[in-house]
Amino acid sequence: MANSRKKIAVIGAGNVGATCAFVLAQKKLGDIVLLDIYEGFAKGKALDMSQNGQVLNYDGSLTGTSNYEDIAGADVVVVTSGFPRQPGMTREDLIAKNASIVKQVGEGIKQHAPDSILVMVTNPLDLMTYHMQKVTGFPANRVCGQAGVLDSARMTHFVADAVGCSEEDVQAMVLGGHGDTMVPLPRFTTVGGIAITHLLDEDTIEAICQRTASGGGEIVKLLERGSAFYAPGSAAAIMAEAVLMDRKRLIPASAYLTGEYGLDDVYIGVPVILGASGIERIIQLELSNEELSSLQKSGNFYKTQLTELLGY
Ligand code: NAI
Ligand code: 2OP
Repeated sequence: MANSRKKIAVIGAGNVGATCAFVLAQKKLGDIVLLDIYEGFAKGKALDMSQNGQVLNYDGSLTGTSNYEDIAGADVVVVTSGFPRQPGMTREDLIAKNASIVKQVGEGIKQHAPDSILVMVTNPLDLMTYHMQKVTGFPANRVCGQAGVLDSARMTHFVADAVGCSEEDVQAMVLGGHGDTMVPLPRFTTVGGIAITHLLDEDTIEAICQRTASGGGEIVKLLERGSAFYAPGSAAAIMAEAVLMDRKRLIPASAYLTGEYGLDDVYIGVPVILGASGIERIIQLELSNEELSSLQKSGNFYKTQLTELLGY
């Protein structure tokens, strides 16, 4: 019988990749292939999740592999393969090891899923997304990075806590790189349509912004081994869903800039419309001088790193 279901490949069957696959399966978005360098690891996780199909009521196949031929025809590829942070490490400390993993994975994707849309997760996110676009040679709109959905969700959580309201009513906006130069935007963060600058005092907002920017590190410190994965895996799944269902979500994502916000030839977190063609539009907000300068500082930091650490 012909199968018209969508196909999603998740590269890296570790904490983030497996969580992403688990969320995608529950959303019934299509057939899922989990690929890891360790075949048994990917197969074992896929089988475990498949055996949950009846319990959680999902359809479609969920298979594990280490063979790139199995991702052929994937509509979306989520890339989570790579080392996570350990306590004391910045995301940038992961560059050397993860850049070679991204190269290897990118070549496999280019050969076997040349028409796919890529959602990058591997850290350091903005640099690895740029690197992946170069390795695959895919048009920049078909390569995007997950950070803003997660960082905004973290800010949302802290705002809801401070206001004492449902998370559902909060819309946070966090731009910039997925690292210390992240740019949480209180003026564009609302509760029930009201900017938080009308609801919370300056000190509380500043504390929320700080905690958001160091949100990943806070979890690394608590876990003592590895980094966050429930919210990151779910955030990547939400981006895959936006593409697969052509949802045209307006969300922050790492996108290739060609002059927007005064930045050029760099991937950085900005508001985008994400749909079936990937990044369909970059939204240009009217930022204050201070907001714009923070975003440019973040973009220029990664531009320097691209040159100094990755040779671009
Ligand atoms: P993990 O260690 O649990 O999983 C990584 C997986 O990648 C492992 O199963 C490993 O075998 C696999 N892998 C390594 N080299 C590979 C290769 N060449 N081909 C295929 N698979 C390969 O790590 P975790 O926690 O899942 O994190 C994955 C990455 O995501 C890390 O770089 C981490 O820093 C990043 N991350 C990014 C976030 C974001 O918001 N962008 C948030 C959370 C994590
Ligand atoms: C996070 O933000 C470490 O990037 C990972 O949790």
